[in-house]
Amino acid sequence: MELLLDADIDPAPLAGKRVAILGYGNQGRAQALNLRDSGIDVVVGLRGGSGSTIEAESAGLATDLLEAAVASADLVMMLAPDEIHASLYREIEPHLRRGAALGFSHGLSVRFGLVEPRADLNVFLLAPKGPGTALRSLYQQGKGMIAVWAVAQDATGKARDIALAYGRAIGCGRAGLIASTFAEEAEADLFNEQAVVWGAVPELLIAGFETLVEGGASPELAYLECVGELKLLAELIEARGIAGMREAISNTAELGALLGGRRIVDEGVRGRMADVLREVRAGRFAEELSQEEATGYARLERARRDNRSTLLEETYRRLNRAD
Ligand SMILES: NC(=O)c1ccc[n+]([C@@H]2O[C@H](COP(=O)([O-])OP(=O)(O)OC[C@H]3O[C@@H](n4cnc5c(N)ncnc54)[C@H](OP(=O)(O)O)[C@@H]3O)[C@@H](O)[C@H]2O)c1
Repeated sequence: MELLLDADIDPAPLAGKRVAILGYGNQGRAQALNLRDSGIDVVVGLRGGSGSTIEAESAGLATDLLEAAVASADLVMMLAPDEIHASLYREIEPHLRRGAALGFSHGLSVRFGLVEPRADLNVFLLAPKGPGTALRSLYQQGKGMIAVWAVAQDATGKARDIALAYGRAIGCGRAGLIASTFAEEAEADLFNEQAVVWGAVPELLIAGFETLVEGGASPELAYLECVGELKLLAELIEARGIAGMREAISNTAELGALLGGRRIVDEGVRGRMADVLREVRAGRFAEELSQEEATGYARLERARRDNRSTLLEETYRRLNRAD
């Protein structure tokens, strides 16, 4: 695997070019500010009446309506939520310059056909592997966030160089750019969200908390054991890797982990993980996401309300007040 750093990347493909960042949310804000601080001419494209206009302008950024921002740009970055990329692309396509570059920070909308870019465009992926807040704060500290890059369409023969120069300008070349494809990035990201860090891990914490409470433990103690120690685990893994983390904990904890870990995460879990990966690749999640947007995010809103009223959340609030 090739890990490209600043010194390997030519910044020239962005010299004198204008970049339009569509959306000023989690990624849009961070990428626009990092580009600006790297000396790139940036305009933030927003829908009419957007509440983000004042925020972007008070950060010293130029803003414009979507169509005008797109028409003025050599490179357009799609940084609105994935589920609206299909309608957003339909809206901006007539305004994209011939031979312009169209960038994404997630492979989903191209991989699953929500966006079918015009043939004259260079289409690239530059996906920072973390949230925009961290992308921005790392940049300000002189550091960077690792990112994945890919090219889906190379209309002018320059798509690779543009993608890499873009990754460098938002600071990711300080940590490293890894080559991938839209399909690999989208599938791995969606798989992890469902089956590992964001889907399975919180459910494991909840199940552990509820098992201890049903077994007679106080909610506070159950919370501290099952949820509170996660930060320590994450920090140890980041500092030492998984093997090093296991060696760093007590013999009691290490033996417990050895005996218990694979009893819980057994072949059944691995089989269901493989099911999730198959379904992601078949486009089932992309359909669910579009459906969710079409129904006004009803399922997500319901889940957000339900999640807030559990004993675990009450315990979290009690313990935090005690802090
Ligand atoms: N969040 C992350 O940590 C992360 C990490 C890596 C990659 N990504 C990828 O980065 C991209 C952006 O994600 P995000 O989380 O940054 O999005 P986000 O914060 O939800 O984006 C919000 C922005 O999108 C604009 N927007 C929403 N609906 C719109 C519409 N119909 N037309 C025009 N603009 C609209 C909003 O406009 P208003 O200001 O007018 O409301 C706002 O400025 C996605 O492809 C995502 O997968 C995200």
